[in-house]
Amino acid sequence: MPRMAQFVLALIVGLAILTWAASGVVQTTAREWFERDVNTRARLVLAGATQSMANSWYSEDEDLQKQLRGLLRDERVMGVSVCNADLSQRTSTPGFPEEFDCLAVGSRVRAPEEGSNELQEWSTVATLPTGRVHVSVMPVEGLERQFGFVVLLHDLSYIERREAQARTFLLIAFAFLAVLAFGLPMFVTKWARYGWSSELRSVLRGDGKQSREFQPILSDVRALVERMANEKEDVPGQWTAERLKQTLNRHLHGEKIVILANREPYIHQRTIDGEIEVQHPASGLVTALEPVMRACSGVWVAHGGGDADREAVDRNDHVRVPPGEESYHIRRVWLSEEEQQGYYYGFSNEGLWPLCHVAHARPLFRAEDWRQYQAVNQKFADAVCSEVDSKDPIILVQDYHFALAPAMIRKRLPAATVIVFWHIPWPNAERMGICPWRNELLDGMLGASIVGFHTQLHCNNFVDSVDRYLETRIDREHSAVVMQGHRTLIRPYPISLEWPVRWAENAPSPEDCRAQVWREFGLKPNALLGVGVDRLDYTKGIEERLLAVERLLEQHPEFRGRFSFAQLAAPSRTKIERYHALNEMIEGLAARINQRFGSAGYQPIILLRFHHEPPEVFRFYRAADVCYVSSLHDGMNLVAKEFVAARTDLKGVLVLSEFTGAARELTEALIVNPYDLEASSNALAAALMMPLEEQKDRMRSMRSLLVQFNVYRWAGKMLVDAARVRNQERVTGRLAGRSAVSSTL
Ligand code: G6P
Repeated sequence: MPRMAQFVLALIVGLAILTWAASGVVQTTAREWFERDVNTRARLVLAGATQSMANSWYSEDEDLQKQLRGLLRDERVMGVSVCNADLSQRTSTPGFPEEFDCLAVGSRVRAPEEGSNELQEWSTVATLPTGRVHVSVMPVEGLERQFGFVVLLHDLSYIERREAQARTFLLIAFAFLAVLAFGLPMFVTKWARYGWSSELRSVLRGDGKQSREFQPILSDVRALVERMANEKEDVPGQWTAERLKQTLNRHLHGEKIVILANREPYIHQRTIDGEIEVQHPASGLVTALEPVMRACSGVWVAHGGGDADREAVDRNDHVRVPPGEESYHIRRVWLSEEEQQGYYYGFSNEGLWPLCHVAHARPLFRAEDWRQYQAVNQKFADAVCSEVDSKDPIILVQDYHFALAPAMIRKRLPAATVIVFWHIPWPNAERMGICPWRNELLDGMLGASIVGFHTQLHCNNFVDSVDRYLETRIDREHSAVVMQGHRTLIRPYPISLEWPVRWAENAPSPEDCRAQVWREFGLKPNALLGVGVDRLDYTKGIEERLLAVERLLEQHPEFRGRFSFAQLAAPSRTKIERYHALNEMIEGLAARINQRFGSAGYQPIILLRFHHEPPEVFRFYRAADVCYVSSLHDGMNLVAKEFVAARTDLKGVLVLSEFTGAARELTEALIVNPYDLEASSNALAAALMMPLEEQKDRMRSMRSLLVQFNVYRWAGKMLVDAARVRNQERVTGRLAGRSAVSSTL
């Protein structure tokens, strides 16, 4: 119970006790007053009655009876009895209680002097089974002698009734006053507080008029609110889809989120049987963002690249997903062959991709590709603007396909909050200088309010590039860039997975997965299995990985005939010559190693060059003894995190390239330089020989990190920063508006 309520309750109980005690005092006093009243009345009545009785003492009893009946007309008179001086009964009203017969009362009315027969007045209050009575006695006196006496009984039960009524009234009055005394101030306080807080909220949001009341303390309040918000978001505890949703509601008032990403999360493909099936693409971006979108809902604007995509959309090119759950929708944008060639294959994947990855592929920059990249960025920016439902939406622009879109969106929606997240590394300034359109790219990205990377190093590289190529002010203290008055924060947000990962939750047990894979590939009972899961991309170091396996078999004959490495390789960007060549090279390499070390019933490299849906990928993760992620350069690499997430049994070892963002977080993996075949093959051997307890210790530690640093936290942190930027922009906007007004006055 809140302290205030406890205090009020204690006060009410205390006051109730006081009232009860006070009512007791009131009751006693009132009773004395009533009894004194009755006494006076009785004496008055008796004075008159005894006078007339004295006059008619010697007449018939009938006369006396008449007088007694007269007295009984007063409803509070219970009975009257007339007694002779010798204490015998003369007459009485019917039903007169025998407790007060002449004999009983006579002893009290005799004068105390010895031998005296004189009768005196007397009165008392007595209690009968029927209630309290007032007894009053007065002698009947002639001129010379006393004839006898009259006993008059007054019923006092009405006093008790009145007392009870008075007490009830007092308590009701108290209760009413208590409610009034506490309720009224509380109501007034609440009402005033509600008024103030809604006014304060609207002032802080920047959509209310400037309140004079808050003007003097507004900046202090704002600073305090900001500090409290920071503290609140930094509270420990797991981030979940629910917490992300609440954060969104608290900071951004539940606004619809619009994501712009080239790759769509669900692809409609036609199978060879003519059926339409829904595929999950092999993409780290999709793996991370799809759960966020399910939690936040909104629209995902993407290229409709599936061959049955057009059949699945409505007339606005929308399709609701995920199938069966339908919590958000995809807006598909259609691209011609030329557009895809120039924007996707050309500028994005032959230019920017090799530029950003230090993987020794030479970037190709063609003017025609650049034109398509510009045009397609505009096309997607327009699609985004047509999807928003307010003038200040939250737009998350993803990756290197859309470096120009932020500025284009900002031009059309100046109040929008645009966040860019760059999923791949950002090269150093010197390397960035290779791109003939580096200035335009940087300029486009600085249209955003926040630009995010996986690591601080990539943030630094970006700021250095801006510093070197653009006229801007760099605010290093706050890690921000100010260009033509517009401020962009540059922040690291290491991406992650949903937690728990649904594919791991729904997968068969690791033992079953192992049994299935063993059966499928005819592995011996004592076989050991390594796994690699990638798009067939030269940045993933697949060649180096297979060479490390070869070296392992060379160096460690004990693994020959026993260790197999399954490489799940999803074909990717196959229209690009470099990828095509890689495909063939990997196939040739696998064949050579198999030739060299394979035997009947034993295949060292199991190359699976086709798309695998997530349940299949997780089956391999859970079956394997070791997972080797050997990227030559990678922003994060979610395969490493997926392997850890898959191992609910805490078994298995992760061997991880030091050139991934993930290596900064998953420090309990065996970290290797994939170019160093000697060290990598030794790490593979160490992984295969690692005692179970050590495997579990390492896995437990990595899993505990992923529980906390999941993708809901990633999105939450970014959206909270966006909310702060938004507030600041609103305040700055208002101040600018005001100074513009005052300067025109
Ligand atoms: C990387 C990129 C993503 C991309 C994914 C798959 O993770 O950062 O933007 O979606 O690769 O590549 P793809 O070209 O098939 O979309």
